[in-house]
Amino acid sequence: MYYLLCTMFLLVGTLTQHGLWSSGASDKNKAMVEQLQRYGVIKSTKVAEVMETIDRGLFVPPGGSPYFDSPMAIGYNATISAPHMHAACLELLEDHLQPGMRALDVGSGTGYLTACFALMVGPEGRAVGVEHIPELVASSTENIKKSAAGPQLSDGSLSIHIADGREGWPELAPYDCIHVGAAAPQIPEALIEQLKPGGRMVIPVGTVFQELKVVDKKLDGTVTVRDETSVRYVPLTSKDAQLQSN
Ligand SMILES: C[S@@+](CC[C@H](N)C(=O)[O-])C[C@H]1O[C@@H](n2cnc3c(N)ncnc32)[C@H](O)[C@@H]1O
Ligand SMILES: *[C@@H]1O[C@H](CO)[C@@H](O)[C@H](O)[C@H]1NC(C)=O
Repeated sequence: MYYLLCTMFLLVGTLTQHGLWSSGASDKNKAMVEQLQRYGVIKSTKVAEVMETIDRGLFVPPGGSPYFDSPMAIGYNATISAPHMHAACLELLEDHLQPGMRALDVGSGTGYLTACFALMVGPEGRAVGVEHIPELVASSTENIKKSAAGPQLSDGSLSIHIADGREGWPELAPYDCIHVGAAAPQIPEALIEQLKPGGRMVIPVGTVFQELKVVDKKLDGTVTVRDETSVRYVPLTSKDAQLQSN
């Protein structure tokens, strides 16, 4: 009997840990964050806190598995990036997402990462999303409203714009932090220009083979670029190409 009970506890523990049997969405979101911490993808307590506060479940369309570590289709030949990619980018950008700073999220898609940025820079900062599919701008705005970053849409410290992100968003430049959520054939010149001296951009570059590049602009204006890791993103392209292409 004792043995049986222990086995049952173990089973419940395992199922809960894997998110199959935990109760609410926030439990599952927390379990996802804890798993990313165990795997060493999340090292910063700030990043863990922000990913716990912004429930990923609010950003994945119904029928998807928001807490599963994989990208998910969101329509329009776009995806929400995998949790480990969101975490990795937040880790790389943390120092450039301090309270009061300005962050640009190019190809903001579901708005998940823009919401995380907004929480990090706070109401004194600016988190700006740019997305070229108007329907995604509309749904991402609804997602953000339901999230912990909702009030920042109203106070104006978070905004999402319909535009071609290859041009950045010059109105609010320069940015301490630029994140690009789609793979560019090469780093767009406008984005380098809109990076503040001392700022950092994280951008996937390439077509078939892609590298996540970390672009740092030093205080004297010199730009350095290094490869962080191999990745696979949808292309940063024109709206027409995205809606027609494979
Ligand atoms: C991987 S997806 C979404 C990434 C987003 N970080 C997320 O997790 O929800 C990339 C997004 O970039 C958008 N995109 C692609 N090319 C673009 C462009 N030229 N301007 C603006 N958005 C673009 C796509 O519509 C898509 O929503
Ligand atoms: C996505 O691309 C495919 C080609 O692979 C195209 O047939 C389809 O119309 C596109 N989907 C949307 C929603 O634009």
